[in-house]
Amino acid sequence: MLNNQASKEKRASLHGNWSSKMAFILAVTGSAVGLGNIWKFPYVAGQNGGGAFVLVYLFCVIIIGMPVMMSEILIGRRGRRNPVAAMDLLSKEENSSNKWRWVGIMGVLGGVLILSYYSVIAGWTLGYALKSITGVFVNASPQAVSSEFSNFVGNWKVIGFYHTLFMALTIFFVARGVEKGLERAVKIMVPVLLILMLVLLGYAIKSGFFGQGLLFMFSVPDSCIALSHECPLTWNSVLVALGQAFFTLSIGMGAVMAYGAYLPEETSIIGASAAVVTADTGIAILAGLAIFPLVFANGLDPADGPGLVFQTLPLAFGQMSDGVFFSTIFFILLSFAAWTSAIALIEPAVAWVIEQFDKTRTQASLIIGILIWILGFGSVLSFNLLKNMIFLAGTFFDNVDYLTSNIILPFVGLLITIFAGWIMSSESSIDELDNSGFIYKSWRLLARYIAPIGIILVLINAII
Ligand code: TRP
Repeated sequence: MLNNQASKEKRASLHGNWSSKMAFILAVTGSAVGLGNIWKFPYVAGQNGGGAFVLVYLFCVIIIGMPVMMSEILIGRRGRRNPVAAMDLLSKEENSSNKWRWVGIMGVLGGVLILSYYSVIAGWTLGYALKSITGVFVNASPQAVSSEFSNFVGNWKVIGFYHTLFMALTIFFVARGVEKGLERAVKIMVPVLLILMLVLLGYAIKSGFFGQGLLFMFSVPDSCIALSHECPLTWNSVLVALGQAFFTLSIGMGAVMAYGAYLPEETSIIGASAAVVTADTGIAILAGLAIFPLVFANGLDPADGPGLVFQTLPLAFGQMSDGVFFSTIFFILLSFAAWTSAIALIEPAVAWVIEQFDKTRTQASLIIGILIWILGFGSVLSFNLLKNMIFLAGTFFDNVDYLTSNIILPFVGLLITIFAGWIMSSESSIDELDNSGFIYKSWRLLARYIAPIGIILVLINAII
């Protein structure tokens, strides 16, 4: 333990520290708040029947997401390295196998795969910001907005272009380093995004269908309460809810771990995690509350899939008096939110290439970024030329999404909590969490038993 302590004090982060506690919270919130909240949450909730799914999702966020997030920050800060090296170092320190570094490697791979399609959807938001300026959505009918969407994604050159633009922006800023610009960007983005979501919520309340949206999101069918077979919630939906919890909180791939490496010693991991989880979940719920009333008011289908946000929000903006302005700002902000997430998605891979292969930050960003860009064309084509190429979970895009959100993230998350709960000594975790009372004991109970067992149960049942 003494040894441990001494080696830890000497260990400074290789890439500098966050300037303050707030900066860290903002950066992790910036990574968590993104397309997952506003684009993905509403459509997966819609596809999985609403209320019961949302309940399971919230349960997963609190019971599994929160302890996994704390475990990631804890490992990251203690290791003070990229996720692969941090796992390597800590497993040595705790006298465990060096195979733990594979957790880091899987996480790096997960980030690369997620960003490949994330960038495509982020590209759509850039495209929609431009479309909004032209005024195409002003007083547009639901049919017009839907066909605008299908023409847009149907053209691979157009969405390929926006994907390219988004990746270029990401690579450029990652090449310049983590801290520069990111803190300031998030400080403005999150509050303004929140205000715009409230404007949309106000509109949804006025639509006359707010009650119906609310019911859809929060009422659990009686059949589910009675645990009968008629309940629309399948084990697969439970896995999707778990995957969504991981995805939206940015956990299960070492991204939060990579950020934790820059966290100053005195910052509370518990407080920071709670702040991030609250902000992220709040924004997802707000997005759902804004979107579902519009879905019902316009006779759309909540189970419509990845195009849901792009076919509902433009309708609302189209009917507002300053709609062109709000819509443009909204889609710019959403691209911005996606971009702060993209930076966190690529960071573990970049940090790993820098440290492992002795490359400069610019070289590493280019190598990884170009790889992701090429891979992204699989998803670009999934909405047009290769739309009918269906295997396993669906199109290429569906498969990358399913594999990452529902398998890689929960699996890596499982290993991370096992590492933090079982491999790390309680001295180490008490030292990092700076607490040995009730909160510590609850975390340890969740991290050692409840979260791992929950993840294993869901993975096994969904796969069988
Ligand atoms: N949480 C992000 C969102 O909701 C997406 C995401 C998943 C992510 N894993 C990540 C972002 C890791 C950064 C790092 O949009």
